[in-house]
Amino acid sequence: MPANRRTKWIAAGLLACLACLALAGCGKQEPDTATASANATPPPPAPPRVLVVGTDAAYTPFESQNEKGEIVGFDIDVVKAIAGKAGFKVKFVNTPWEGIFNALDQGDRDLLVSAITITAERRQTMDFSKPYFEARQLIAVRRDAQVARFEDLKAMKVGVQNGTTGDEVVGKLQGKSSGNIKRFESTPLALKELEAGGVQAVVADNGVVEHYLANNPGGGFKTVSDAAFPAEQYGIAVKKGNAELLARINKGFDDIKADGSYDKIYAAYFGSTLR
Ligand code: ARG
Repeated sequence: MPANRRTKWIAAGLLACLACLALAGCGKQEPDTATASANATPPPPAPPRVLVVGTDAAYTPFESQNEKGEIVGFDIDVVKAIAGKAGFKVKFVNTPWEGIFNALDQGDRDLLVSAITITAERRQTMDFSKPYFEARQLIAVRRDAQVARFEDLKAMKVGVQNGTTGDEVVGKLQGKSSGNIKRFESTPLALKELEAGGVQAVVADNGVVEHYLANNPGGGFKTVSDAAFPAEQYGIAVKKGNAELLARINKGFDDIKADGSYDKIYAAYFGSTLR
């Protein structure tokens, strides 16, 4: 066959292949259910759905929004790494803490990562992954404050983020309905109020308080820790009963622990002193 005819044949062949591919592609998008059920060949697996992850992105270094509006942080990297191993895609959506558990329950979010402490009470309404981080409450006060232990906050104006474990412990100390507990929508707002002098102390998770102080060296604050604060464990939350997703998350978590990627993420945010 002359060279130019051969190229024509090859071109025609290629075109036919392309046409086949295009048809196959069309078929995928609009499956003919009648023939699909009559056929022995099962339909192709659905492309992995993008799971929507809710996070209250005002909790540096766990979750925050950068200048570009992207949600970043330790929790974000952990979930991305888990998703990579478990073979699902994720999309992070900034979700105010106030409505975050409801959003999960309503199905508006598939999972939550938000430095959420696993508590017995929360376990009643949602399911948690294996713990992925240990935390404790930590007190922030002015450097000249007469505060040596948590008890010293008994009669002080204390700022907390509404509905957090910080809110819970201060509620136990002062009584839930104490007028001295100032509840804020976010932890940064509580810390702003400490700066402004509207509250005398803030109680929040240690990682966040430490990060805040490190970034406000001129703020005139100090931290006060107290062994009386119980250890808290962060977990990834899924809708109650979503055992399939939970198993996938836990498996992905085991994988990132085993291959060192969890440790790398941890070191990037909290230094190389690994627990
Ligand atoms: N660990 C605390 C709790 O579960 C505070 C979490 C707040 N998280 C956030 N992203 N604002 O109550």
